[in-house]
Amino acid sequence: MALLSVDQLNVRFDTSDGVVHAVRGLSFEVNASEVLAIVGESGSGKSQSAFAIMGLLASNGNATGSVQFKGDELLNKPTDYLNRIRATGIAMVFQDALAALNPYMRIADQMTEVLVYHFGLSQREALAQSIAMLDAVRIPDAKNRIRLFPHEFSGGMQQRVMIAMALLCKPALLIADEPTTALDVTVQAEIMDLLAEVRREMNMSMILITHDLGVVAGYSDTVMVLYAGQVVESAPVQTLFDSPGHPYTIGLLNSILRLDTEDNALYAIPGTPPNLLLRQSGCPFVERCEFAIERCHSENPALNEYRLENVTRSRACHVEINS
Ligand SMILES: Nc1ncnc2c1ncn2[C@@H]1O[C@H](COP(=O)(O)OP(=O)(O)O)[C@@H](O)[C@H]1O
Ligand SMILES: [Mg+2]
Repeated sequence: MALLSVDQLNVRFDTSDGVVHAVRGLSFEVNASEVLAIVGESGSGKSQSAFAIMGLLASNGNATGSVQFKGDELLNKPTDYLNRIRATGIAMVFQDALAALNPYMRIADQMTEVLVYHFGLSQREALAQSIAMLDAVRIPDAKNRIRLFPHEFSGGMQQRVMIAMALLCKPALLIADEPTTALDVTVQAEIMDLLAEVRREMNMSMILITHDLGVVAGYSDTVMVLYAGQVVESAPVQTLFDSPGHPYTIGLLNSILRLDTEDNALYAIPGTPPNLLLRQSGCPFVERCEFAIERCHSENPALNEYRLENVTRSRACHVEINS
C-alpha cells in the first residue's frame, strides 16, 4: 500500500467572479521513503494541492476526490482528527518561514509546545529534544539560540528552524512547498542538501514542490509536472530530463539556466497560463504550444500511461514528440 494515495483530487474556489477550478483530477501515489517533485509555474495549483491534502484550504475553497494516508481517508475530515495525523504523520514546510513561525513566541516555546501537547513529554525532555533537532539542522549554538525569537535569525536559519519544527514529531511524509524560493542561491543549496540528508536519515517520504525544474534533479525520484491545475506529465526524474514527453516540460527544461553553455540567457516559455475562470475546451497549453495541431484546440488530452524503454510514465498530449 502506498503511504499517500491521492485520487481524482479537485480543488475549487468560490469567488465573486465565479468558480476558480485550481486543481483538476490530480491522482498520484507516494511510497515509503520516496521523493515526489511537483513542478509548475506560479498559479499552477501546487500549493492548493498540498493545502487540500493537509486540510488547510481557505474557507472559500472545497476539495473533492480522495486523499488516503496509510489507508485512512483525510479529505473533509474533522479538524481534531486531522491535527493528530498532521502532527505525527504528515508535516509541511512553507516558502516563507517567518510567516509560518509565531513572531511573539521564543523558538523554544514553539517547539516544546508541540512535543508536550502531542507526546505528553515533560518540559525538560521536550526542550532537550528540541535542541537536539536544532543541532540536527545545524543551527550553531542551538542550546542558547533556542531562546531567541524568529526575527532574530537570518532567512536561511529561519528556514532551518521551520524544518526542525516540522521534523520534531518524526513525520512519515514531509511536504516542502518551495522551501528555498525566498532564499539566496547559496543558502538554497545548503537547505536542499540539508533536507535531502535529514530525509535519508529519517527514511521519510517527501513531496517537494517547486516552480524550478532545476531544483528537482538530484533531490527527487519522480517528477509530476502541473499546468493550469492538471498533470501534463509524470516520469522518473532522469527520464523526464533525458526525454521530456510534453511540450510544456520541454519549455521548462529550456528555461533552466545552463551555466555550462556560452549562451546563458534565460529562456522563458512565451505567453501566459490560461485564466482559470474562463477556460476554453481543448488543451490548456494550446495557446503557448509550438507543436499544437487542430485537435488540441477542441479536445483536452487525457493523461495516458505508457511504457518506453522499460520505464512507466504518463503524459497528456495529442502530439507525438521526438525529443
Ligand atoms: N482563496 C482563493 N480564492 C480563489 N482563488 C484562489 C484561492 N487560493 C488560490 N487560488 C487560485 O488557485 C490557483 C492555484 O494557486 P496555487 O496552488 O497557490 O498556485 P502555485 O502553483 O503557485 O502554488 C491560482 O490561480 C490562485 O489564484
Ligand atoms: Mg505556491
